[in-house]
This record gives sequence, C-alpha cells and structure tokens, in this order.
Amino acid sequence: MVGIGIIGCGSITKWRHAPEYDGNKNAKIQGFYDPISDRAREMTSRYGGKIYNTVEEMLADPIIEAVSVCTANSYHAPLSIQALKAGKHVLCEKPMATSVEDAEAMIAAAKEAGKYLMIGHNQRLVEAHKKAKKILASGELGKVITFSTNFSHAGPELWSADKSAKTWFFNKKDAFMGAMGDLGIHKADLIRWLIGDEIKEVKAYVTTLDKKGPDGKLIEIDDNAICLLQSRTGIIGTLTSSWTNYGNENNSTVLYCTEGTMKIYDNPDFPLEIVKKDGEKIYYKIGGIQTNASQTKSGIIDQFVASIEAGTSPEISGEEGLAALRIIFACFESSAKGDKVVLE
Ligand SMILES: NC(=O)c1ccc[n+]([C@@H]2O[C@H](COP(=O)([O-])OP(=O)(O)OC[C@H]3O[C@@H](n4cnc5c(N)ncnc54)[C@H](O)[C@@H]3O)[C@@H](O)[C@H]2O)c1
Repeated sequence: MVGIGIIGCGSITKWRHAPEYDGNKNAKIQGFYDPISDRAREMTSRYGGKIYNTVEEMLADPIIEAVSVCTANSYHAPLSIQALKAGKHVLCEKPMATSVEDAEAMIAAAKEAGKYLMIGHNQRLVEAHKKAKKILASGELGKVITFSTNFSHAGPELWSADKSAKTWFFNKKDAFMGAMGDLGIHKADLIRWLIGDEIKEVKAYVTTLDKKGPDGKLIEIDDNAICLLQSRTGIIGTLTSSWTNYGNENNSTVLYCTEGTMKIYDNPDFPLEIVKKDGEKIYYKIGGIQTNASQTKSGIIDQFVASIEAGTSPEISGEEGLAALRIIFACFESSAKGDKVVLE
C-alpha cells in the first residue's frame, strides 16, 4: 500500500488525482496540502487523510511515500525537487517545469534520490490514442507522412478552482506560459509518442489575441499558437493550441499515412476512424476523451502506483516530459525570432 500526499487541491486534484487514488486498492491518501486550507479540508472530508499546514510538514511525514504535485505551473519544479530530496516518489502535473534547466534538475533529483518521477501526460492513456499507437506500430497504415494535432477550448477560467479572470492560469508569474503549457504540451507529448519519432525543427506563431486578465488588459501569456513541426525522419505537421475556441472544444489528431488516414477524436460518434487508400472505412467506437465538462478516469494514477508497487520506472518519465517541453520552448523561441528553430 503506497501512502500518498497531494500538494495543490484545485480542479485536477478534485476531478482526477484524489478520486483515482481513492479508487486504487494499492494506494492510500494520507493527506493534502493547499495554501487555501479550505480546499484541502474539502478533499479530506471526501477522501480522508489529514490536512498538512505546510509542504515541509507533509514531506517530513514517513507515512507519505509518494506525492502528486498539482499546483500552478511555476511551483512544479521546486516542489517536485523538494519532495524527491525528501525521499518521495513524485507524480508531477504538466507542464513539468517552466525551464529546461528546472526540468533537468528534477530528473537529476530523482536519480540522486533513487525515486520515481512521472509526468501527468495522460493523453497517452486514452483508449483511442492507445489503439492508434498500436495500429501505427503494426504498419497497417504504412508510414506517417503528415499530421495535424489540435487541443483547443474556451479557456481555463471555466475549469480552474478560481473560475474568473483572476485564475492563476492567466497570471505570468504563476503560469509562465498559457495555452501552450496547458494544452499544446499534451499534443507535443502525444505526437512524438504516436509517430515514434523526435521533432527536430519548428516554426511557430505563438500569440495573445483575446483573453483578458482582471485588469481588462490582454494577458501576458499566449492564448493561441499554430506551430509547424518537422520530425527527424521528415514527417511534417501542425500543432495548434487555443484558449479561444468558444463553443467548440477540439482535441483531435489526424495522421495522413501512405496507406490511408487516421482520425482521432475528430468524429464525435467514433473516437477512432480510419479511411484506407481504397476507400474502406473502419470505425472504432472506443472510450471518449476527457473534456472539461465531462471527466473520465485518466489512468495516470494507476500507472504511477503500479510503477511504485512493481519497482519499475514509469514509462511517462521526467525525460519524456522534458522532450515535450523542449518542443514547446522551441515554438516560443521560433515565434519570438520569427524564424525556424532547430532542436538539438
Ligand atoms: N493532465 C491534465 O489533463 C491536466 C488538466 C488540468 C490541469 N492540469 C495541470 O494541473 C495543475 C493544476 O491545475 P488545476 O486545474 O488543478 O488548477 P486550479 O486553479 O484548479 O488549482 C490549483 C491549486 O493549486 C494551489 N496552489 C498554488 N500554488 C501552490 C503551492 N505553492 N503549493 C500548494 N498548492 C498550491 C492553489 O491554491 C489551487 O488550489 C496545472 O499545472 C495544470 O496544468 C493538468
């Protein structure tokens, strides 16, 4: 039985981490911490465990073996490193850090401590993405030529525990990045995993078009991005992230391959749709994807707990989180320079 502490008690804890640990027979939630103690109290009233007054108090408690870091982005790296140094395994939400150096320091801290660091890239675990990965690996659709991947919705102020323009998601100090860190990072991870190839070059527009902060001025972080990506083997595609798709959430990925096209979460009735070169259509009616309005089990917690129980490194490791982060940072750099950026 793995003793769990949860740091940050906002929406992702409420909808995923807490209920998913609670439903895992090999995990026991031992407590929560949030600077807004009422949020920790609400979680303990539903799931048990104690309210810790500080992160230090939680990390000093030997019944805590592993923690979830579910805070605003800027605190992911320092809190994860603090927890790893205290000898805890860490499941950190995405984006894992706000700089490459911080992400590298997290990976180094996990190695030094001999503890696991896993990142919350749960898109890999939804049914249609798992099936798509298998089909692509089987060669049934030949080789991927091009792709488009998109994660866009109406904005995090409809989701965050602070449901207004005051949410930390709109505040540069706490969030560091906008839709790209919130949504684009999911697709950066997904696409490199699906195609089994690394992105080597990007050209991007990352911009702020519509979201306004509490002062009525445009936020200082991105609310839209359209990025061109090229892989090492020459596959090209687009990655789009947006917080301004009002009335229309888009979480789709389309892969154009030598033997046909694969559409994922493009058709609301069929999460996975294949159209072969000869016109044959194959529809898979398998598990839907989580939306802000409809939460389903992500599976990320089960994978984290299973990895601790089995003593095997998590597949969605710090290194994997860093690879996705590098793509996002390359897009920021490209947009700022107005030129392509080559990833090392
Ligand atoms: N994997 C996913 O699909 C997914 C979905 C949504 C959010 N997230 C990520 O989860 C993280 C949290 O997002 P959310 O939607 O829960 O936000 P939220 O606004 O609902 O809640 C954030 C919580 O963190 C707390 N917090 C802030 N700083 C803290 C600190 N230093 N120590 C402890 N607690 C602190 C806040 O008080 C708040 O209760 C973000 O990084 C976000 O990107 C991931």
